[in-house]
Amino acid sequence: MLDELKKSVARSALEYVPKNSIIGIGSGSTIKFFIEALSTISKHVKGVVSSSYTSEKRLKYFNIPIIDLNTLDSLDIYIDSADRVNFSMEMIKGGGGALTREKIIASVAKKFICIIDKSKYVSKFDNFPVPIEVIPMALQSVSREITKLGGIPQYRKNFITDNSNYIIDIYNLHTNNTISLEEKINNIPGIVSVGLFCKRKADVLLVSYMNGVKIIS
Ligand code: A5P
Repeated sequence: MLDELKKSVARSALEYVPKNSIIGIGSGSTIKFFIEALSTISKHVKGVVSSSYTSEKRLKYFNIPIIDLNTLDSLDIYIDSADRVNFSMEMIKGGGGALTREKIIASVAKKFICIIDKSKYVSKFDNFPVPIEVIPMALQSVSREITKLGGIPQYRKNFITDNSNYIIDIYNLHTNNTISLEEKINNIPGIVSVGLFCKRKADVLLVSYMNGVKIIS
């Protein structure tokens, strides 16, 4: 049933893909459905900037051209899902560990279209863990700093990111002042990026319910 909601929101995102465009895409199970939907109109797109090896593999499977972000001056659209989105369109991302590349592409894109099923749309972030990508040698020092912020760091076992780093999931964070929290965590040496997407939040949000997709912008 959740898969059906993911599929329907993925399909509805096709309307946001401009003809002859290059778009950015994220990673995860919703984006897996989006890539499949995109394959039905792939003749209309020039190519896709991918945020993970997993998404790349799927794009190749559907013969959708992959574009290197370094060859572009700008990007119009970024389409991605999230783990949680609050009513201010701020997001927690990185459940799948691709947060750094997702953040890079999102920062370049003029418009971020976020596609989620209803279970992820929340008034306030609950205790969903906030992932951070960490340089391996800084695992302990970063964990100490996170504890000072009141967070409970949990090393994600047997997981290496596409950038050869580790992931720590942070529990128990007080997410009242999200932008300042994002900045504070970002500034800890050894952290490559944090899965709070509050400074660069979604511009358009598509949320799928049993009776259709709601558009919020
Ligand atoms: C990948 O690192 C994440 O940011 C995903 O975009 C996010 O976790 C949503 O994934 P699902 O579509 O699998 O729920």
